[in-house]
Amino acid sequence: MKDTPINYEVVNRKIEESDLPNVGIASIREIKKLIDGIEKETGKKYIRMEMGIPGLPAAQVGVEAEIAALKKGVASIYPDIQGIPELKKEASRFVKLFLDVDVDPEGCIPTVGSMQGSFAAFITLNRMYKEKDVILFLDPGFPVHTQQLKVLGQKWETFDVYDYRGNKLEDKLESVLQKGNISAMLYSNPNNPSWICFTEDELKIIAEMADRYNVVVLEDLAYIAMDFRKDLYTPGEPPYQATVARYTDNYILFISSSKAFSYAGQRIGMMIISDNLYNKSCPNLKKYYKTDKFGYCMIFGTIYPLSAGVTHSAQHALTAMYKAANDGDFNFVNIVKEYGERAKIMKKIFNANGFFIVYDTDVDEPIADGFYFTFAYPGFTGEELLNELIYYGISAISLAITGSVREEGVRACVSLVQREQFPDLEFRLKKFNEHHPVEEVQT
Ligand SMILES: Cc1ncc(COP(=O)(O)O)c(C=O)c1O
Repeated sequence: MKDTPINYEVVNRKIEESDLPNVGIASIREIKKLIDGIEKETGKKYIRMEMGIPGLPAAQVGVEAEIAALKKGVASIYPDIQGIPELKKEASRFVKLFLDVDVDPEGCIPTVGSMQGSFAAFITLNRMYKEKDVILFLDPGFPVHTQQLKVLGQKWETFDVYDYRGNKLEDKLESVLQKGNISAMLYSNPNNPSWICFTEDELKIIAEMADRYNVVVLEDLAYIAMDFRKDLYTPGEPPYQATVARYTDNYILFISSSKAFSYAGQRIGMMIISDNLYNKSCPNLKKYYKTDKFGYCMIFGTIYPLSAGVTHSAQHALTAMYKAANDGDFNFVNIVKEYGERAKIMKKIFNANGFFIVYDTDVDEPIADGFYFTFAYPGFTGEELLNELIYYGISAISLAITGSVREEGVRACVSLVQREQFPDLEFRLKKFNEHHPVEEVQT
């Protein structure tokens, strides 16, 4: 029986009751459920770092627009599957003003979160060409994407980009893509979980390789404008969000509103299909859809049977948030900068207590402070560390489920940790360090 910050016996019993074979490799939602139970029984609040729930209030401009839309009666009307025209127009403007990319409103399609966007994309993309039925993940990545492919019975390949930064990326990509079976490659930028951000040169390499091997680039911008090393909020002026879309016309962007606008609960995001891809004809699509046109198949062939569109009122909310941001009236970036501030302080607390940052550099600079960071402790694998930290009131997820080769690592999400909890975090990490002296562990 150890003197741990959370009652040892209760934690053990709850783990047993959870039926989880191993807490260290549990999924995000499984950990959430387990910790909810322990918090309820002990009355003690955890430092919750397992799930990327926005820790800020939803953007008011969205909430107000949504209420107004509901009062007007949109709840009784099925929305158009391709999205309401005002939203499509504002989304296209948003992409122009914050990414400096031109895209027809036609290819701007709302989805039930980016989650549904990637699901629909996987289904459609792997049917474009008979011989291209594998998705390539530039990992580490968001574990739910792998889960989506698993449930679809589709194939994927992966490599950890950390070992192939800069010019090394070209040879690595070429070695995978030249096999000819990859339909699309996916990465998030900034990256969940490591927070690395591809440079313009790397994005050019990705674009060039995509064009050479006819592979669609899936760029997941769940953390759009959150590379806080630059201020990315000045509509229509540089610096813009880094994107592959400036270097190729063979892409789909996923722009989530969950983190940028703290609108996760309403489950709405945008899938932005390049004009070239939207209008592309692929005869193989005819096996599954009425036409061979990619954009049409995506909307009326894949998205329609998945959910028949996206909640009508949420579409009005997103329209209003984009419009306000586009018009220069809603600096959403300033609001979410809080995450970077929290990360800076939390990393310091971790470092001071024997922990170290796993993905610690971004090509040749220190990793930026953002929504996530990765940490480890000498002598522990990520799995072992999570299994142990749970007794110290700290929850997170293992990098092992993110496609990372850095098995010692753990992903920390800063969003839900409030500044008032920093003293608790410090106390608990100190205790952990006391119980696991680094010198002793290393011998
Ligand atoms: C990289 C990445 N992609 C997609 C999502 C899901 O976004 P949404 O809430 O829009 O479905 C997340 C959420 O955490 C994410 O981290």
